[in-house]
Amino acid sequence: MRTLDVALGERAYPIHIGRGLIGQPDLVLRHLKARRVAIVSNETVAPLYLAQLAEGLRGAGVSTTEIILPDGEAHKDWQTLNLVFDGLLGNRCERSTTVIALGGGVIGDMAGFAAATYQRGVPFIQVPTTLLSQVDSSVGGKTAINHPLGKNMIGAFYQPRLVLADVSTLDTLPDRELKAGLAEVIKYGLIRDLPFLEWCEANIDALLARDPEALAYAVERSCRNKAEVVAADETEQGERATLNLGHTFGHAIETGMGYGVWLHGEAVAAGTVMAAELSARLGMLSSADVARVRTIFERAGLPVAGPALGVERYVELMHHDKKVEAGRLRLILLEQIGRAQITDRAARSDIEAAIAACVA
Ligand code: NAD
Ligand code: GLY
Repeated sequence: MRTLDVALGERAYPIHIGRGLIGQPDLVLRHLKARRVAIVSNETVAPLYLAQLAEGLRGAGVSTTEIILPDGEAHKDWQTLNLVFDGLLGNRCERSTTVIALGGGVIGDMAGFAAATYQRGVPFIQVPTTLLSQVDSSVGGKTAINHPLGKNMIGAFYQPRLVLADVSTLDTLPDRELKAGLAEVIKYGLIRDLPFLEWCEANIDALLARDPEALAYAVERSCRNKAEVVAADETEQGERATLNLGHTFGHAIETGMGYGVWLHGEAVAAGTVMAAELSARLGMLSSADVARVRTIFERAGLPVAGPALGVERYVELMHHDKKVEAGRLRLILLEQIGRAQITDRAARSDIEAAIAACVA
């Protein structure tokens, strides 16, 4: 097992990465406020991993409540969030009860938001089970639900007390979901870690073949990057926004197509190609750089062109973004491969041209 720390002072917490961690209740026990937990999972992940987690904790004298939600991005909404509150209240969960998210980013984001707001905040632990959630969403304390008008628009910053990334859970992850997670892995290389991008380029086939060492390394290096950014800028006043490379375009795809039609990672991949194309139009990247971005996503089996929503519709959807300030889009672009920049200097005509160049 490898352990990283998210250095946030009194809210600092460890990220444990390794195989078989869900079966080690001691790792969780030391972070509980009381011997009472509510495990939030979904109907796909629960049959795979809930018993192992819950039985281990019960064996250690912890009382467990289980809250099982419907699966999917389309359920990351108020109605489903309310099922978590129904479960917490119906089982008389108290302020000292720890909410444990067992699942991918959808479960982590919703359980985290429930933990942030139930009785004004209860302890929270992330047990991510997708590649995307192990490399990104479980770390850093962003929690949210979607609104029909915009992705992740209602939420809170709320840090977990522990992230337990059991990479053996990736053995059961469908291929499409594994590839979607690779989009966020590649992102770290593009925005701030060129040697890691080069490693991804050299090891993409091993990652797709689920080589355990390659996957564990990708999770660890991604978490290290994310932990550094979050420690420097917890509430996204600056650098943290660079983690959203491709996301403003990508969120437009997810919202425009209907939540769950495109996976988040797929939308981020196509959105990142759009961001690279726009960076080239603003003179920051060469056409060879844009081709390099496209190639790594293609090799990861990810889409490199967005759906034909219509350029106007893309731009309209992109304005429902948390980075919009005074009605102006702020976008994450690439200054060079391995370095990102936040800018509001892209003209609407350039944004439209970049989208038009990258739709199927
Ligand atoms: P997801 O949570 O929908 O999980 C993907 C699918 O895999 C689901 O069907 C799930 O049930 C299934 N699954 C999960 N673990 C499994 C396993 N081990 N074996 C088999 N099936 C498994 O999707 P995701 O890609 O994990 O997360 C995407 C969400 O994360 C989006 O809502 C996105 O907005 C959010 N996100 C949040 C942050 C953040 O910082 N909070 C960052 C990135 C993404
Ligand atoms: N996934 C973007 C962030 O955590 O800031």
